[in-house]
Amino acid sequence: MSERPICLADFEQHAKKLLPKSVYDYYRSGADDQQTLAENVAAFSRLKLYPRMLRNVSVLDLSTSILGQEISMPICVAATAMQCMAHADGETATVRACRSMGTGMMLSSWATSSIEEVSQAAPKAICWLQLYIYKDREVTRSLVQRAEKSGYKGIFLTVDTPFLGKRLDDVRNKFQLPPHLRMKNFETNDLAFSSEKGYGENSGLSVYVAEAIDPSINWEDVKWLRGLTSLPVVAKGILRADDAREAVKHGVDGILVSNHGARQLDGVPATIEVLPEIVEAVGGKVEVFLDGGIRKGTDVLKALALGAKAVFIGRPAIWGLVYQGEDGVKQVLQIMKEEFQLAMALCGCQSVKAIDRTLVRRDQWAASKI
Ligand code: FNR
Ligand code: LAC
Repeated sequence: MSERPICLADFEQHAKKLLPKSVYDYYRSGADDQQTLAENVAAFSRLKLYPRMLRNVSVLDLSTSILGQEISMPICVAATAMQCMAHADGETATVRACRSMGTGMMLSSWATSSIEEVSQAAPKAICWLQLYIYKDREVTRSLVQRAEKSGYKGIFLTVDTPFLGKRLDDVRNKFQLPPHLRMKNFETNDLAFSSEKGYGENSGLSVYVAEAIDPSINWEDVKWLRGLTSLPVVAKGILRADDAREAVKHGVDGILVSNHGARQLDGVPATIEVLPEIVEAVGGKVEVFLDGGIRKGTDVLKALALGAKAVFIGRPAIWGLVYQGEDGVKQVLQIMKEEFQLAMALCGCQSVKAIDRTLVRRDQWAASKI
Protein backbone atom coordinates (compact mmCIF):
# COMPACT_ATOMS: atom_id res chain seq x y z
CA MET A 1 0.00 0.00 0.00
CA SER A 2 1.56 3.28 -1.02
CA GLU A 3 -0.51 5.44 1.30
CA ARG A 4 0.36 5.63 4.97
CA PRO A 5 -2.27 3.84 7.10
CA ILE A 6 -4.16 6.32 9.26
CA CYS A 7 -6.75 4.08 10.89
CA LEU A 8 -6.83 0.40 11.84
CA ALA A 9 -8.95 -0.60 8.84
CA ASP A 10 -6.16 0.58 6.52
CA PHE A 11 -3.76 -2.01 7.95
CA GLU A 12 -6.15 -4.86 7.18
CA GLN A 13 -6.47 -3.77 3.54
CA HIS A 14 -2.73 -3.92 3.24
CA ALA A 15 -2.50 -7.35 4.89
CA LYS A 16 -5.16 -8.76 2.62
CA LYS A 17 -3.03 -7.86 -0.41
CA LEU A 18 0.21 -9.18 1.06
CA LEU A 19 -0.64 -12.44 2.80
CA PRO A 20 -1.17 -15.85 1.20
CA LYS A 21 -4.92 -16.49 1.06
CA SER A 22 -5.01 -19.33 3.60
CA VAL A 23 -3.05 -17.26 6.14
CA TYR A 24 -5.21 -14.16 5.70
CA ASP A 25 -8.34 -16.34 5.94
CA TYR A 26 -7.10 -17.94 9.18
CA TYR A 27 -6.40 -14.60 10.84
CA ARG A 28 -9.57 -12.89 9.63
CA SER A 29 -12.19 -15.63 10.00
CA GLY A 30 -14.97 -16.00 12.49
CA ALA A 31 -16.90 -19.21 13.08
CA ASP A 32 -19.70 -20.55 10.87
CA ASP A 33 -21.53 -17.75 9.04
CA GLN A 34 -19.76 -15.10 11.09
CA GLN A 35 -22.80 -13.36 12.58
CA THR A 36 -20.93 -12.63 15.78
CA LEU A 37 -17.89 -11.38 13.85
CA ALA A 38 -20.03 -8.60 12.36
CA GLU A 39 -21.83 -8.04 15.67
CA ASN A 40 -18.60 -7.43 17.59
CA VAL A 41 -18.08 -4.30 15.50
CA ALA A 42 -21.72 -3.32 14.87
CA ALA A 43 -22.59 -3.32 18.58
CA PHE A 44 -20.13 -0.48 19.22
CA SER A 45 -21.92 1.62 16.59
CA ARG A 46 -25.23 1.18 18.40
CA LEU A 47 -23.78 2.88 21.46
CA LYS A 48 -23.91 6.65 21.39
CA LEU A 49 -21.62 9.02 23.26
CA TYR A 50 -22.89 11.84 25.48
CA PRO A 51 -19.85 14.09 25.94
CA ARG A 52 -19.27 16.69 28.64
CA MET A 53 -18.14 20.16 27.54
CA LEU A 54 -15.83 22.78 29.03
CA ARG A 55 -13.73 20.46 31.21
CA ASN A 56 -10.21 21.72 30.48
CA VAL A 57 -8.78 18.85 28.49
CA SER A 58 -5.43 20.51 27.77
CA VAL A 59 -3.54 17.83 29.72
CA LEU A 60 -4.70 14.23 29.64
CA ASP A 61 -3.64 11.16 31.60
CA LEU A 62 -4.23 7.88 29.74
CA SER A 63 -2.33 5.68 32.15
CA THR A 64 -3.87 2.95 34.25
CA SER A 65 -2.96 -0.39 35.78
CA ILE A 66 -3.87 -3.96 35.05
CA LEU A 67 -3.37 -6.79 37.55
CA GLY A 68 -1.05 -4.51 39.49
CA GLN A 69 1.10 -3.45 36.53
CA GLU A 70 1.25 0.18 35.39
CA ILE A 71 0.49 0.65 31.69
CA SER A 72 0.58 3.80 29.58
CA MET A 73 -2.93 3.31 28.21
CA PRO A 74 -5.79 0.85 28.73
CA ILE A 75 -5.14 -0.84 25.37
CA CYS A 76 -3.16 -4.11 25.32
CA VAL A 77 -2.51 -6.83 22.76
CA ALA A 78 -4.53 -10.06 22.94
CA ALA A 79 -3.13 -13.54 22.35
CA THR A 80 -3.21 -14.47 18.71
CA ALA A 81 -1.58 -17.71 17.66
CA MET A 82 1.21 -18.26 15.14
CA GLN A 83 2.32 -14.70 14.43
CA CYS A 84 5.38 -15.74 12.38
CA MET A 85 3.00 -16.34 9.48
CA ALA A 86 2.38 -12.58 9.53
CA HIS A 87 6.02 -11.50 9.76
CA ALA A 88 9.30 -13.39 10.21
CA ASP A 89 9.85 -11.72 13.60
CA GLY A 90 6.38 -12.74 14.81
CA GLU A 91 5.74 -12.52 18.55
CA THR A 92 9.17 -11.04 19.30
CA ALA A 93 8.25 -8.02 17.16
CA THR A 94 4.88 -7.66 18.87
CA VAL A 95 6.38 -7.72 22.34
CA ARG A 96 8.98 -5.09 21.42
CA ALA A 97 6.25 -2.85 20.05
CA CYS A 98 4.20 -3.26 23.23
CA ARG A 99 7.24 -2.54 25.35
CA SER A 100 8.07 0.65 23.50
CA MET A 101 4.46 1.82 23.77
CA GLY A 102 4.40 1.04 27.51
CA THR A 103 1.65 -1.52 27.31
CA GLY A 104 1.26 -5.28 27.79
CA MET A 105 1.16 -8.32 25.54
CA MET A 106 -0.68 -11.59 26.06
CA LEU A 107 1.35 -14.38 24.45
CA SER A 108 -0.53 -17.33 22.95
CA SER A 109 0.42 -20.82 24.12
CA TRP A 110 0.44 -21.50 20.39
CA ALA A 111 3.02 -18.90 19.53
CA THR A 112 5.65 -19.47 16.86
CA SER A 113 8.19 -17.93 19.26
CA SER A 114 8.78 -19.52 22.66
CA ILE A 115 7.90 -18.10 26.07
CA GLU A 116 11.63 -17.53 26.68
CA GLU A 117 12.34 -15.97 23.27
CA VAL A 118 9.59 -13.44 23.84
CA SER A 119 10.75 -12.42 27.30
CA GLN A 120 14.35 -12.17 26.09
CA ALA A 121 13.31 -10.02 23.11
CA ALA A 122 12.00 -7.33 25.47
CA PRO A 123 13.17 -8.05 29.02
CA LYS A 124 11.24 -5.21 30.62
CA ALA A 125 7.99 -5.85 28.79
CA ILE A 126 4.77 -6.70 30.58
CA CYS A 127 3.81 -10.17 29.32
CA TRP A 128 1.02 -12.51 30.27
CA LEU A 129 0.75 -16.11 29.09
CA GLN A 130 -2.49 -17.31 27.52
CA LEU A 131 -3.03 -20.91 28.52
CA TYR A 132 -4.83 -23.91 27.10
CA ILE A 133 -5.23 -26.96 29.34
CA TYR A 134 -3.79 -30.04 27.64
CA LYS A 135 -5.01 -33.59 28.14
CA ASP A 136 -1.55 -34.16 29.58
CA ARG A 137 -1.57 -31.85 32.61
CA GLU A 138 2.22 -31.97 32.82
CA VAL A 139 2.38 -30.06 29.53
CA THR A 140 0.23 -27.31 31.00
CA ARG A 141 2.09 -27.30 34.30
CA SER A 142 5.38 -26.85 32.49
CA LEU A 143 4.04 -23.88 30.45
CA VAL A 144 2.99 -22.15 33.66
CA GLN A 145 6.34 -22.80 35.32
CA ARG A 146 8.23 -21.50 32.29
CA ALA A 147 6.11 -18.33 32.31
CA GLU A 148 6.84 -17.81 36.01
CA LYS A 149 10.55 -18.32 35.46
CA SER A 150 10.59 -15.90 32.54
CA GLY A 151 8.95 -13.09 34.50
CA TYR A 152 5.45 -13.20 33.04
CA LYS A 153 2.94 -11.22 35.08
CA GLY A 154 -0.13 -13.43 34.83
CA ILE A 155 -1.95 -16.32 33.19
CA PHE A 156 -5.01 -15.88 30.98
CA LEU A 157 -6.82 -19.23 30.96
CA THR A 158 -8.92 -19.60 27.83
CA VAL A 159 -12.21 -21.17 28.88
CA ASP A 160 -14.14 -21.11 25.60
CA THR A 161 -12.23 -23.71 23.57
CA PRO A 162 -13.00 -27.32 24.55
CA PHE A 163 -13.00 -27.78 20.76
CA LEU A 164 -12.09 -25.34 18.02
CA GLY A 165 -14.98 -23.42 16.41
CA LYS A 166 -15.79 -24.26 12.80
CA ARG A 167 -14.17 -21.68 10.56
CA LEU A 168 -15.33 -22.50 7.05
CA ASP A 169 -12.38 -21.02 5.19
CA ASP A 170 -9.95 -23.01 7.33
CA VAL A 171 -11.82 -26.22 6.54
CA ARG A 172 -11.80 -25.40 2.82
CA ASN A 173 -8.12 -24.41 2.91
CA LYS A 174 -7.21 -27.42 5.14
CA PHE A 175 -5.35 -24.87 7.18
CA GLN A 176 -1.92 -25.89 8.51
CA LEU A 177 1.24 -24.09 9.56
CA PRO A 178 3.72 -23.57 6.71
CA PRO A 179 6.47 -26.25 6.87
CA HIS A 180 9.17 -23.89 8.18
CA LEU A 181 7.15 -22.98 11.27
CA ARG A 182 5.98 -24.77 14.40
CA MET A 183 4.42 -23.90 17.74
CA LYS A 184 7.64 -23.07 19.51
CA ASN A 185 6.59 -23.88 23.06
CA PHE A 186 6.53 -27.60 22.34
CA GLU A 187 9.16 -30.16 21.44
CA THR A 188 7.32 -32.99 19.73
CA ASN A 189 5.69 -32.71 16.31
CA ASP A 190 2.38 -33.84 17.80
CA LEU A 191 2.27 -30.98 20.27
CA ALA A 192 3.93 -28.41 18.00
CA PHE A 193 1.27 -28.58 15.25
CA SER A 194 4.08 -29.38 12.86
CA SER A 195 3.07 -29.98 9.25
CA GLU A 196 5.42 -32.98 9.34
CA LYS A 197 2.68 -34.79 11.20
CA GLY A 198 -0.11 -34.21 8.66
CA TYR A 199 -3.70 -33.34 9.59
CA GLY A 200 -5.89 -34.72 6.80
CA GLU A 201 -8.77 -33.01 5.04
CA ASN A 202 -10.14 -30.80 7.80
CA SER A 203 -8.84 -27.56 9.30
CA GLY A 204 -5.53 -28.88 10.64
CA LEU A 205 -5.87 -26.71 13.73
CA SER A 206 -9.25 -28.15 14.66
CA VAL A 207 -7.80 -31.67 14.38
CA TYR A 208 -4.87 -30.60 16.56
CA VAL A 209 -7.19 -29.16 19.23
CA ALA A 210 -9.34 -32.29 19.30
CA GLU A 211 -6.24 -34.42 19.77
CA ALA A 212 -4.36 -32.35 22.34
CA ILE A 213 -6.72 -30.11 24.31
CA ASP A 214 -8.83 -31.47 27.15
CA PRO A 215 -12.58 -30.96 26.56
CA SER A 216 -13.35 -32.28 30.04
CA ILE A 217 -11.96 -29.22 31.79
CA ASN A 218 -14.31 -27.67 34.32
CA TRP A 219 -14.27 -25.39 37.36
CA GLU A 220 -12.15 -27.88 39.30
CA ASP A 221 -9.37 -27.23 36.81
CA VAL A 222 -9.54 -23.51 37.56
CA LYS A 223 -8.98 -24.43 41.20
CA TRP A 224 -6.08 -26.68 40.12
CA LEU A 225 -4.48 -23.84 38.16
CA ARG A 226 -5.08 -21.44 41.04
CA GLY A 227 -3.15 -23.79 43.30
CA LEU A 228 -0.37 -24.22 40.77
CA THR A 229 0.80 -20.63 40.56
CA SER A 230 1.01 -17.46 42.58
CA LEU A 231 0.64 -15.38 39.42
CA PRO A 232 -2.68 -13.62 38.81
CA VAL A 233 -5.11 -15.85 36.89
CA VAL A 234 -7.68 -14.40 34.49
CA ALA A 235 -10.58 -16.35 32.96
CA LYS A 236 -10.61 -15.49 29.24
CA GLY A 237 -13.86 -16.06 27.40
CA ILE A 238 -16.60 -15.41 29.95
CA LEU A 239 -19.96 -14.26 28.49
CA ARG A 240 -22.44 -14.75 31.35
CA ALA A 241 -22.95 -13.14 34.74
CA ASP A 242 -23.32 -16.51 36.52
CA ASP A 243 -20.05 -17.78 35.02
CA ALA A 244 -18.37 -14.55 36.11
CA ARG A 245 -19.55 -15.12 39.68
CA GLU A 246 -18.38 -18.74 39.50
CA ALA A 247 -14.97 -17.60 38.27
CA VAL A 248 -14.65 -15.17 41.18
CA LYS A 249 -15.68 -17.94 43.57
CA HIS A 250 -12.88 -20.09 42.18
CA GLY A 251 -10.27 -17.49 42.94
CA VAL A 252 -9.55 -15.75 39.64
CA ASP A 253 -8.01 -12.30 39.73
CA GLY A 254 -9.70 -11.05 36.59
CA ILE A 255 -12.26 -11.78 33.91
CA LEU A 256 -11.74 -11.15 30.23
CA VAL A 257 -15.12 -10.77 28.56
CA SER A 258 -14.39 -12.31 25.19
CA ASN A 259 -15.99 -14.39 22.45
CA HIS A 260 -12.57 -15.29 21.09
CA GLY A 261 -12.88 -12.74 18.31
CA ALA A 262 -16.10 -14.51 17.18
CA ARG A 263 -14.08 -17.63 16.27
CA GLN A 264 -15.72 -20.14 18.61
CA LEU A 265 -19.52 -20.24 19.01
CA ASP A 266 -21.26 -18.20 16.33
CA GLY A 267 -24.48 -16.53 17.45
CA VAL A 268 -23.21 -15.29 20.79
CA PRO A 269 -23.66 -11.59 21.48
CA ALA A 270 -21.03 -8.95 20.94
CA THR A 271 -18.80 -8.68 23.98
CA ILE A 272 -19.70 -5.03 24.57
CA GLU A 273 -23.36 -6.13 24.88
CA VAL A 274 -22.68 -8.46 27.81
CA LEU A 275 -20.04 -6.35 29.53
CA PRO A 276 -22.47 -4.36 31.76
CA GLU A 277 -24.13 -7.43 33.28
CA ILE A 278 -20.77 -9.05 33.97
CA VAL A 279 -19.37 -5.91 35.56
CA GLU A 280 -22.45 -5.77 37.74
CA ALA A 281 -22.19 -9.45 38.72
CA VAL A 282 -18.52 -9.10 39.64
CA GLY A 283 -19.28 -6.07 41.79
CA GLY A 284 -15.72 -4.73 41.79
CA LYS A 285 -14.24 -7.90 43.35
CA VAL A 286 -11.85 -8.46 40.41
CA GLU A 287 -10.82 -6.52 37.32
CA VAL A 288 -12.92 -6.97 34.19
CA PHE A 289 -11.42 -6.64 30.71
CA LEU A 290 -12.89 -6.85 27.22
CA ASP A 291 -11.79 -7.88 23.77
CA GLY A 292 -13.56 -8.30 20.43
CA GLY A 293 -14.14 -5.73 17.71
CA ILE A 294 -12.10 -2.90 19.22
CA ARG A 295 -11.08 -0.91 16.14
CA LYS A 296 -11.24 2.77 17.17
CA GLY A 297 -10.45 5.03 20.09
CA THR A 298 -14.16 5.58 20.74
CA ASP A 299 -14.61 1.79 21.13
CA VAL A 300 -12.06 1.85 23.94
CA LEU A 301 -13.84 4.72 25.62
CA LYS A 302 -17.21 2.96 25.36
CA ALA A 303 -15.79 -0.23 26.90
CA LEU A 304 -14.24 1.71 29.78
CA ALA A 305 -17.47 3.66 30.31
CA LEU A 306 -19.31 0.35 30.70
CA GLY A 307 -16.85 -0.91 33.29
CA ALA A 308 -13.86 -2.51 31.57
CA LYS A 309 -10.51 -1.78 33.23
CA ALA A 310 -8.71 -2.22 29.90
CA VAL A 311 -9.26 -3.67 26.44
CA PHE A 312 -7.27 -5.99 24.20
CA ILE A 313 -6.89 -5.95 20.43
CA GLY A 314 -6.37 -9.15 18.45
CA ARG A 315 -6.46 -8.94 14.66
CA PRO A 316 -5.35 -5.27 14.35
CA ALA A 317 -1.95 -6.14 15.86
CA ILE A 318 -1.55 -8.91 13.30
CA TRP A 319 -2.31 -6.50 10.46
CA GLY A 320 0.31 -4.15 11.89
CA LEU A 321 2.84 -7.01 11.96
CA VAL A 322 2.17 -7.78 8.31
CA TYR A 323 2.59 -4.12 7.41
CA GLN A 324 5.97 -3.43 9.01
CA GLY A 325 6.81 -5.93 11.76
CA GLU A 326 7.62 -4.31 15.11
CA ASP A 327 7.18 -0.83 13.69
CA GLY A 328 3.82 -1.76 12.16
CA VAL A 329 2.45 -3.01 15.51
CA LYS A 330 3.78 0.16 17.10
CA GLN A 331 1.95 2.26 14.53
CA VAL A 332 -1.28 0.38 15.23
CA LEU A 333 -0.89 1.01 18.97
CA GLN A 334 0.09 4.63 18.40
CA ILE A 335 -2.97 5.28 16.26
CA MET A 336 -5.19 3.63 18.88
CA LYS A 337 -3.57 5.76 21.56
CA GLU A 338 -4.09 8.99 19.65
CA GLU A 339 -7.68 8.12 18.81
CA PHE A 340 -8.43 7.18 22.42
CA GLN A 341 -6.81 10.37 23.64
CA LEU A 342 -8.92 12.42 21.23
CA ALA A 343 -12.08 10.57 22.31
CA MET A 344 -11.26 11.34 25.95
CA ALA A 345 -10.68 15.02 25.17
CA LEU A 346 -13.87 15.38 23.16
CA CYS A 347 -15.82 13.64 25.93
CA GLY A 348 -14.39 15.99 28.55
CA CYS A 349 -12.33 13.36 30.41
CA GLN A 350 -8.95 14.38 31.84
CA SER A 351 -8.10 10.87 32.98
CA VAL A 352 -9.38 7.33 32.54
CA LYS A 353 -10.96 7.60 36.00
CA ALA A 354 -13.23 10.32 34.64
CA ILE A 355 -14.73 7.95 32.07
CA ASP A 356 -18.07 6.98 33.56
CA ARG A 357 -21.23 5.21 32.54
CA THR A 358 -23.22 8.34 31.78
CA LEU A 359 -21.06 8.96 28.70
CA VAL A 360 -22.69 6.07 26.83
CA ARG A 361 -26.27 5.21 25.98
CA ARG A 362 -27.76 2.58 23.79
CA ASP A 363 -29.21 3.91 20.54
CA GLN A 364 -32.74 2.56 20.69
CA TRP A 365 -33.23 3.57 24.30
CA ALA A 366 -31.65 6.97 23.98
CA ALA A 367 -33.45 8.23 27.04
CA SER A 368 -32.28 5.51 29.42
CA LYS A 369 -28.83 4.58 30.50
CA ILE A 370 -27.62 1.03 29.81
C1 FNR B 1 -7.14 -15.52 18.41
N1 FNR B 1 -7.54 -15.62 19.74
C2 FNR B 1 -6.88 -16.49 20.58
N2 FNR B 1 -7.29 -16.61 21.87
C3 FNR B 1 -6.65 -17.45 22.71
O1 FNR B 1 -7.04 -17.55 23.86
N3 FNR B 1 -5.56 -18.15 22.29
C4 FNR B 1 -5.09 -18.08 21.03
O2 FNR B 1 -4.11 -18.72 20.67
C5 FNR B 1 -5.79 -17.25 20.11
N4 FNR B 1 -5.42 -17.18 18.82
C6 FNR B 1 -6.06 -16.33 17.96
C7 FNR B 1 -5.63 -16.25 16.65
C8 FNR B 1 -6.24 -15.34 15.79
C9 FNR B 1 -5.77 -15.24 14.38
C10 FNR B 1 -7.29 -14.52 16.25
C11 FNR B 1 -7.93 -13.50 15.35
C12 FNR B 1 -7.73 -14.62 17.54
C13 FNR B 1 -8.56 -14.72 20.28
C14 FNR B 1 -7.94 -13.40 20.75
O3 FNR B 1 -7.19 -13.60 21.92
C15 FNR B 1 -8.99 -12.33 21.04
O4 FNR B 1 -9.96 -12.85 21.92
C16 FNR B 1 -9.68 -11.79 19.79
O5 FNR B 1 -8.80 -11.74 18.70
C17 FNR B 1 -10.23 -10.39 20.03
O6 FNR B 1 -10.97 -9.95 18.96
P1 FNR B 1 -10.44 -8.99 17.79
O7 FNR B 1 -9.70 -7.84 18.42
O8 FNR B 1 -9.59 -9.82 16.89
O9 FNR B 1 -11.72 -8.56 17.14
C1 LAC C 1 -7.69 -19.48 17.20
C2 LAC C 1 -7.06 -20.29 18.28
C3 LAC C 1 -5.62 -20.42 18.12
O1 LAC C 1 -8.60 -18.72 17.50
O2 LAC C 1 -7.38 -19.83 19.52
O3 LAC C 1 -7.31 -19.69 16.03
